[in-house]
Amino acid sequence: MPENLWREIWILVAVAALSLILAEITGYPFLIAALGFGLYIGLNLRHLVQLNSWLINKRQDVPDAGGLWGEVLDRIRALTKETERREDRLTEMVARFQSASAATPDAMVIVSPQHEIEWANAAAERLLGMSTPRDIGQRVVNLIRYPDFRKYLERGDYTEALPMTSPIQADKSLSVRIIPFGHYQKLIIARDITHLVNLERLRQDFVANISHELRTPLTVLTGFLETLKDMDKPAGADLQKHFHTMHDQAQRMTRLVDDLLTLSKLETTPAARHENVVDVPAMLAALNEMGELVSGERRHHISLQADAGLKLVGNEEELRSAFSNLINNAVRYTPAGGDIRLVWKLDGDTPVFAVTDTGEGIAPQHLPHLTERFYRIDTARSRDTGGTGLGLSIVKHILLRHDGRLTIDSALGKGSTFRCSFPANRAVQVTPAQHKL
Ligand SMILES: Nc1ncnc2c1ncn2[C@@H]1O[C@H](COP(=O)(O)OP(=O)(O)OP(=O)(O)O)[C@@H](O)[C@H]1O
Ligand SMILES: [Mg+2]
Repeated sequence: MPENLWREIWILVAVAALSLILAEITGYPFLIAALGFGLYIGLNLRHLVQLNSWLINKRQDVPDAGGLWGEVLDRIRALTKETERREDRLTEMVARFQSASAATPDAMVIVSPQHEIEWANAAAERLLGMSTPRDIGQRVVNLIRYPDFRKYLERGDYTEALPMTSPIQADKSLSVRIIPFGHYQKLIIARDITHLVNLERLRQDFVANISHELRTPLTVLTGFLETLKDMDKPAGADLQKHFHTMHDQAQRMTRLVDDLLTLSKLETTPAARHENVVDVPAMLAALNEMGELVSGERRHHISLQADAGLKLVGNEEELRSAFSNLINNAVRYTPAGGDIRLVWKLDGDTPVFAVTDTGEGIAPQHLPHLTERFYRIDTARSRDTGGTGLGLSIVKHILLRHDGRLTIDSALGKGSTFRCSFPANRAVQVTPAQHKL
């Protein structure tokens, strides 16, 4: 038992003994006992009242007392000191966090599970036009009124950032990321990437301009070389050989420039323009013939299996370019006499165009890089066959513009399958009767 409790018991015993003695002397035992215990209870009440008034107004000091009360009050005093220290530390941390978040150039906004703004830093006002405390409790989609942002916020998959224009400054480009945390809260971070976007635009313009400028002199050069190499009486056999090489190289440069122009057009013009229902089976029949023409002496067995009633909503010119790139590759990278199979069908409800060849195949480490610009596995060999390494990059861009996907299956020495899948809502099924019309 604690020492102070013993003391309290002794006091009670002493009060009782004193009351007994005084009762014996005075002859009023009940009165004396009542007075004694009343005094004891009164003292305790006084401490209780002091403690209560301290709890009501904590600004006063914790009251002093002896005995068991003293111990209780000491403990309360220690607890209060510890709480104050913790509060100070917390206040300091919050102040430090606030000054750090105020200094970050990225806009940061915390939203509730209902997407109402709970907190925002200083940059959020500059980049997103959100001001606290004015906008606290407002739904964030009422301040950033872009359908893409609303979709992104509600999607729940935030692995990729969302590019977006600032809602208050049209010339500012932002990259938005969302980080879910705590109890279904979200931290929205918007970074100003205007200078990156400008640099990218500069690069695209530069490539487009230089390709455009190179085109005319190349056409002139190729024209003259054509005439020279076909002259009946050339200056000499050697010279004629040189003219041939020059003509081949000039043609290669023309192809490169054309591919660069195609790519920059794909990058700079918005998608979903000039889209209509494309008769893919008819297009593939023509491309099949083109494949045989390109194969020429190498006599590949090219077969086409197409769902005659399956059409696709898209841009005809772009789809032709993507499909012909894949067919050309199959012909180019399959040894003479090999099989090339073209398939156009619904896989479940997904429209798919697949090119399968029995060619040289691709080692797994190259697969993730094939759609990068200028990426060629065997640079010398690809150059010999006239490749520039831009073909698959063009295919990927075109598929992206059609919300499609390119997948590649390949085994070295066995062959490859390049598969273009499109979203189900782009498929248009035509019944045989309609097909005849
Ligand atoms: N069907 C295929 N079989 C084997 N390798 C292939 C196949 N298709 C593409 N490749 C490899 O991928 C590389 C990139 O192909 P891509 O079409 O982008 O460029 P390219 O054919 O070299 O040039 P081009 O720009 O004229 O198409 C090729 O260099 C080749 O090594
Ligand atoms: Mg190619």
